[in-house]
Amino acid sequence: MTQDELKQAVARAAIDYVVDGEIIGVGTGSTANFFIDELAKIKDRIKGTVASSEATAARLRGHGIPVFDLNEVESIAVYIDGADEITEQGAMIKGGGAALTREKIVASVSKRFVCIADGSKLVGTLGKFPLPVEVIPMARAVVMRKLAALGGQPRLRTKAGSDEAFITDNGGEIIDVAGLQIADPVALETEINGIVGVIAVGLFAKQGANVCLLGMADGVKTLS
Ligand code: 5RP
Repeated sequence: MTQDELKQAVARAAIDYVVDGEIIGVGTGSTANFFIDELAKIKDRIKGTVASSEATAARLRGHGIPVFDLNEVESIAVYIDGADEITEQGAMIKGGGAALTREKIVASVSKRFVCIADGSKLVGTLGKFPLPVEVIPMARAVVMRKLAALGGQPRLRTKAGSDEAFITDNGGEIIDVAGLQIADPVALETEINGIVGVIAVGLFAKQGANVCLLGMADGVKTLS
């Protein structure tokens, strides 16, 4: 099976976690996009969605699926999203698609986080994938120095084919931190959250995934 077929398989399996008549939180990225396409087939069963990025909102609306502003919503039954890395305990690195801050906000309002990923995302220790950190642009340099002091190699994310900083949906910039061996994800999440100028860190450990659907060659494996 190709990586896309594995992503499609977990996207299909995630439909079992959709709660009828409720609002569903929807993540960002290629796996989330496959999920949106599956959700479109059962859109009449749900009240609507909250999107974790402008790109996801556009894809949902393109399918005729209602998208609510989070400020109009008190609780979300389930949040379904991909990950860049995930451990058996449900701690994740996210933000490869630059949507980490909104993903974290929508997940925080959701009763359950269902992670959907192809099997290559399962790791023993987080950190091979560079850790994304969203920052206020004026704080970029000071935050980069502090991330370097934590033992990482921070690098500003740029627009494809350009030296210009990539700008998120929130007007922030992304620093990708390579070289971290994250033995204690909760402690590192707390420490990076405490750096002034950081908007959010792509470590989802304090509130990780409740369920992970992993696409493997022999089928979808469920970790919970
Ligand atoms: C976006 C994310 C994505 O969930 C993560 O990058 C995985 O993406 P994909 O499903 O394309 O592999 O965190 O900010």
